[in-house]
Amino acid sequence: MSLRPLGIDPSHCFIGGVWAPGESGETLDLRNPSDGSTLCAIARGTEADIDRAVAAGEQALEGEWGRLANFERGRILHRIGQKVLEHVETLAELEALDVGKPLKQARADVIALARYMEFYAGAADKIHGTTIPFLDGYTVYTMREPHGVTGHIIPWNYPMQIIGRSVGAALTMGNAAVLKPAEEACLTALAFAGIAHEAGLPAGALNVVPGLGAEAGAALTAHPGVRHISFTGSVGVGKLIQSAAAQNVVPVTLELGGKSPQLVFEDADVAAALPFLTNAGIQNAGQTCSASSRILVHRSRYDEVVSGMAARYAALRAGPAMDDLDVGPLVSARQKQIVEGFLAQGADLEVAACGQVVESAPEGGAYVAPTLFTGVSPDHRLAQDEIFGPVQVVIPFDTEEEAVSIANGTAYGLVASVWSDSGARQMRLAKRLRAGQVFLNNYGAGGGVELPFGGSGLSGHGREKGFEALYGFSTLKTVAALHG
Ligand code: NAI
Ligand code: MG
Repeated sequence: MSLRPLGIDPSHCFIGGVWAPGESGETLDLRNPSDGSTLCAIARGTEADIDRAVAAGEQALEGEWGRLANFERGRILHRIGQKVLEHVETLAELEALDVGKPLKQARADVIALARYMEFYAGAADKIHGTTIPFLDGYTVYTMREPHGVTGHIIPWNYPMQIIGRSVGAALTMGNAAVLKPAEEACLTALAFAGIAHEAGLPAGALNVVPGLGAEAGAALTAHPGVRHISFTGSVGVGKLIQSAAAQNVVPVTLELGGKSPQLVFEDADVAAALPFLTNAGIQNAGQTCSASSRILVHRSRYDEVVSGMAARYAALRAGPAMDDLDVGPLVSARQKQIVEGFLAQGADLEVAACGQVVESAPEGGAYVAPTLFTGVSPDHRLAQDEIFGPVQVVIPFDTEEEAVSIANGTAYGLVASVWSDSGARQMRLAKRLRAGQVFLNNYGAGGGVELPFGGSGLSGHGREKGFEALYGFSTLKTVAALHG
């Protein structure tokens, strides 16, 4: 197993700086989605492990970790980033094996993880309070403090990137993190804990408990010692988490995916748009919270966009992660079933083009051919629900008003983009589109470690990434002194 070069047993939890099996001794099988084989056993964490992890976090806050100066935390984060870069190939291979993503995409995720560490390292000593002019005889100021122990429940699609943006920001502000990675993919979470420890992160500042959502995840969410919960995943589980957090009255950050549109207007540079239109749908086999699954096109450019996208789809090849093709398998047989269920619902629709699953792709892999549907009505389920597979729908429109109404016409609001030559239209739509990020003549800005990210509606609430995340992962104290 490739965690060996890092000296880690993948069936262990990492709690209080120590690697050990979960208390129950039970394990789960981790699967390789490229061929369905078992990669290794991972710990099936329980409430007892979560209890120990939260206690280890509390101890860290009382001890060395809680006493470090901000710039010292920054130094540690920077060292973690450097060590991540030393292990690019190992981490990329682990992520590719575990998630099924093509190696080049996994490598980009490692670089993003390092960038998060570098960005937050630099930010650690730059979050200041303010002084507030007040009544005669008073001095009033504010300061930012950590919440305490923070819970991080992450999905399987981008483990490293989501660790970077969520655990990275929490550590920057001096919290102690307990991380519950997804049961489908948790190797890089374990590897990251090992690397962070080696880079000097004090014991208990980051604890990792793998396991099932309904067991370790639910125990973490319900734990009264957890003072903030950050969750990325499905809408259904997001609702459970917000309800559980309400019992302890703690804040949550929820990032629940979307149905993000790209709007192509009559004055768009279609040649420039085409690679973005397609890549934003098939990257990571469409299993991306900010995937662009709806392409809205002005009728005057409709045929041009459809034929350009269809040509790209026809050339797409899906195969094993290690073959490093355009698209890998989905993360699991279950995810493949979900996506095939959606494809079946599109039986009445026109398919403009499909990619190919390569012949050498193993039988047991969770492969789905990338599929482009055209002429889709905005209220069709494929145009309303998050599919989380390599599937996009193209929808024609006639007016700007209609485009906005279709774009805003789902329950989600995560990302949107506008392709148009008109600056006035760009500014107008940037205001009117319901999304936490709006891109003008691009999509995704290459991941954007520095750019605040999050949604509204069923996409969730709260912001991660950039400086903005640091406010969410800390609390503000106001101090008022009456000194005469
Ligand atoms: P999920 O929401 O069940 O899993 C995400 C994380 O939540 C995992 O770590 C899981 O163990 C944990 N979890 C599950 N049940 C829990 C509970 N009761 N309490 C606490 N934690 C719990 O997502 P799943 O089932 O893997 O994927 C289903 C669909 O969710 C996908 O098809 C996609 O539409 C959406 N999704 C969205 C993601 C995003 O990036 N926004 C990421 C993953 C899934
Ligand atoms: Mg689930």
